[in-house]
Amino acid sequence: WQTPALVMIIGYLLGSIPFGIILTRIAGVGDLRQIGSGNIGATNVLRTGRKGLAAATLLLDGAKGAVAVFLGWRLMGGDALANGGAMAGLMAFLGHCYPVWLRFAGGKGVATMLGVVAALHWPVGLVFAGTWVGMLALTRISSVGGMAAAASAPVAAVALGRLDLFAPMLAMALVVLWRHRANMGRLVKGIEPRVGAKTSREP
Ligand code: G3P
Repeated sequence: WQTPALVMIIGYLLGSIPFGIILTRIAGVGDLRQIGSGNIGATNVLRTGRKGLAAATLLLDGAKGAVAVFLGWRLMGGDALANGGAMAGLMAFLGHCYPVWLRFAGGKGVATMLGVVAALHWPVGLVFAGTWVGMLALTRISSVGGMAAAASAPVAAVALGRLDLFAPMLAMALVVLWRHRANMGRLVKGIEPRVGAKTSREP
């Protein structure tokens, strides 16, 4: 049992690294949680006007999910990509959304979910990325792209014959939707900002 426990702890710790906060702090643009939506993800980093920092946040938040999957896979050995990989990836995703360092008030999970999904089964990752980019291009609203992409993953897993990945992908998609409660409220009211615009802080 030690190996699965280790895999889960390493996954969680990796995922809990808040790259958005770290990068914006290093760059001296202030506390990300006091800017825009207050979220710690790439979309909110973009609201600081620093495109490079936003791209780096997106990349690193995604990479930590993918790295966790491969570490879980290596540590659990054999063909346990789905088991060890999914376990570590899921924990990294939860670490991003609920990091102990930020008193469990973390991000919304889209970038980290993409990293996890792509590492577990790249064709599902492709569907995820395509849905994200497509919906973003269509609506220009980051939360709509992220939520649609998250929801597409469990559907794509089934459609592509990876029933073993359905449960972890559904679990991540549900958490992503839950973490976007405030965004959904703004969408209903028609006040969710488009990419590039500023937004008022979330309560
Ligand atoms: O990935 C987060 C994105 O979907 C929404 O971010 O800052 O607009 O709430 P934000």
